Amino acid sequence: MADLEDRDKTDPIFKLGFEESPVANHIGVLTDANKGLRRKIFDLYTIFEISRHLNSMLNVESLLDATLFTCIGQMGVAGAAIVVQDPSDNKLSHFHFKGLTLPKDVSIQFSRVGRLVRHLQRIARPQLIGELKDVVQPDTEDYSKLKAVEAELIVPLISKGNLLGILFLPRKLSGQPYQENDLEFVSILLNQLSVAIVNAHLYQSEKEALLELRSAQKRLIESERLAALGRLAASIAHEVNNPLGIIKNYLTIISKSPGTSNDIKKNVTIVHEEVDRIARIVRQLLDFYRPTLEQQVELNVTEVVDSTLDLTSQKLQSMGIEISRIYETEDIKINGSPTKLKQVFLNLILNARDVMPRGGKLTVSACRRNGFAEIEFIDSGTGISPDELPRIFEPFYTTKKESGTGLGLAVCHGIISSHNGTISASNNASGGAIFTIKLPLLFKGKND
Ligand SMILES: Nc1ncnc2c1ncn2[C@@H]1O[C@H](COP(=O)(O)OP(=O)(O)OP(=O)(O)O)[C@@H](O)[C@H]1O
Ligand SMILES: [Mg+2]
Repeated sequence: MADLEDRDKTDPIFKLGFEESPVANHIGVLTDANKGLRRKIFDLYTIFEISRHLNSMLNVESLLDATLFTCIGQMGVAGAAIVVQDPSDNKLSHFHFKGLTLPKDVSIQFSRVGRLVRHLQRIARPQLIGELKDVVQPDTEDYSKLKAVEAELIVPLISKGNLLGILFLPRKLSGQPYQENDLEFVSILLNQLSVAIVNAHLYQSEKEALLELRSAQKRLIESERLAALGRLAASIAHEVNNPLGIIKNYLTIISKSPGTSNDIKKNVTIVHEEVDRIARIVRQLLDFYRPTLEQQVELNVTEVVDSTLDLTSQKLQSMGIEISRIYETEDIKINGSPTKLKQVFLNLILNARDVMPRGGKLTVSACRRNGFAEIEFIDSGTGISPDELPRIFEPFYTTKKESGTGLGLAVCHGIISSHNGTISASNNASGGAIFTIKLPLLFKGKND
């Protein structure tokens, strides 16, 4: 309870001239209590408002901003800072501040095993800088960090017994020390903040899970659609194959029969060539759906990519296409059919060649990622328009008029699917297309 001497001299009771009387004393005490009550109501109202506000926010940055601004306004300080846990590495490294000028060379992050963090985790309540003398010694890293943020009051942000972050408040602008009700206020505020941060993280992970589910559904529908198209194409090819064989036999008989004139022989040769062309397409179509008949062997992806590039590099270079290979490691082993995979890589290289008739750059990268061998073919060609993108893996989809059958990518898709992998296309931000293949790794290391 405040003494009469401490009381505000503008208080109306003093003006009445009976400030020394016992009545005045009682009225004075009541006035002080009233002031304290008014401050409490104001604090509670602020807490109520900010809680409502925090609970409606699902973004951690906005939550931290709102908390810092509330502290600055309510505590009468020039600025405030907070460091919170980065969900990706579990370190207290996500630093946020307002109204403070920090030295450039200080990085404000805290190790979970540091003395200050362990102390705050244990004590779980606000600490004035003076109370930390035994915990934070001068010339330690923690000390220079507290100095950098001009910390006078340090408040742990705790959720279910776990330290999620630390709030730092500097000296009050009025020069007054922090009071018990200030500590109470920031404790309640940070309690609200911890609930709101946990909610925001939950919301974020739910959102990511939903997006992942949607994209998995889309991939499933897409690959089922292509598989159905493939089955249809393969069954037609199968039906066409038999009469083709008969036509070829008869053409041979005609051209070899003694009565056939040279003119007819010439025409038969042309028909024969065209029949061969149809036969090639039919073979490709059958490849599209027929599961890899060849036995799969243990192979190094980079070696298969290299040998395919070696086949084509001379031609590409003569067209002014620069080839760049970026292999994160040479050791990317999978189980697969080298000839089938070569066919896939060759189709992608030829497509890249077709979109760079006046030269360009083809980058082929390979790495181990999340249990998969990831191979990318990146060209600097025209890119793929958004209308075309969903259709390019369909059999017979081509934009090359006479020169393309539209089977290259369909075959690639069939072969990669039969290897339990995926193939997808996208556009490069700097122009050109990216084809990404993922094939299950044979041996998964602890980093895969
Ligand atoms: N690297 C690329 N950049 C831009 N568009 C591409 C690229 N690769 C493929 N495409 C588009 O996808 C279509 C289908 O490709 P796909 O390889 O299946 O058939 P194609 O190359 O037209 O004929 P072919 O059967 O001879 O391979 C192409 O016609 C082209 O429009
Ligand atoms: Mg092609």
